[in-house]
Amino acid sequence: MNTAPAGLNTREFSFTDADFRALAKLAHSEFGLALAESKKPLVYSRLARRLRAREVNEFSDYMKLLTKTDETDERLQLISALTTNVTSFFREKHHFATLREKLVPELAQQARVRIWSAGCSSGQEPFSIAMTLHDSLPERARRDVRLLATDIDPAVVSRARAAKYPKEEAETIPEDLRRRWTTTCPDDPDKVAISAAMRDMISFAELNLMQEWPFKGPFDAIFCRNVAIYFDQNTQKRLWARFTDMLRPGGYLFIGHSERVTGDALATLTTAGVTTYRKNGGADTGNAAH
Ligand SMILES: C[S@@+](CC[C@H](N)C(=O)[O-])C[C@H]1O[C@@H](n2cnc3c(N)ncnc32)[C@H](O)[C@@H]1O
Repeated sequence: MNTAPAGLNTREFSFTDADFRALAKLAHSEFGLALAESKKPLVYSRLARRLRAREVNEFSDYMKLLTKTDETDERLQLISALTTNVTSFFREKHHFATLREKLVPELAQQARVRIWSAGCSSGQEPFSIAMTLHDSLPERARRDVRLLATDIDPAVVSRARAAKYPKEEAETIPEDLRRRWTTTCPDDPDKVAISAAMRDMISFAELNLMQEWPFKGPFDAIFCRNVAIYFDQNTQKRLWARFTDMLRPGGYLFIGHSERVTGDALATLTTAGVTTYRKNGGADTGNAAH
């Protein structure tokens, strides 16, 4: 009996319902991804090139390969194929206005500033944060400002570390900041390089948000935008609670435009703007649950 999903019978690789369920289970347990049945055709088209690359002839063989302990790289290829790395400088501008107008006046009083960009993709988000902070913090408050920028996908983390971007991508950086913090790459006139002053503020690292986090915080702000959309409701709730634990009282959580904090974290967070939350207990935050 042909058990291939409807519409996939004539495709290059056999992809049964059982294969899809096994794949969805693995993607959920390893990465928190929620793959609904309706995503089958998308999953097929995104993964077909991996099967070609690994020279396997059907999804059941690809599954066997994925579950081998020494196939960590292939599992990362899997998540890379199933999620997008789309990002841009100063994406969702209102968060940078909140950072500058609400957070910076407080941070200016602190001896140290710690911010985490979780799911940073190729670096445009943490560089936008770094430029905003450097531009708006008084000099004495800039001495101990550190950003942690993490992503599960090694390819994007290495692009972030390289800090070179096509000129047209840099156009969303406000002009004064672009002039101050980017230069044309000497080896490629179509690209800009982010200055060392910005790069030095950021530590880039690979991190799967589903696993242990090898640091304690606390952070003054966490940006986790357009990442949790891939996760199921329970995974999202756990993640919001873990982020909340990592924030100092009064710390900010910025999330993506189509995301909402749900679950236990809401007892400790108050809304502080569009897709912006603040942990209770800081100087200006009440203790009201959201
Ligand atoms: C759409 S990008 C968002 C980038 C940036 N935060 C923004 O809003 O522009 C989503 C990123 O989440 C990362 N990601 C997906 N699942 C992840 C996980 N389990 N742990 C860490 N990062 C993950 C992807 O690799 C991707 O780079």
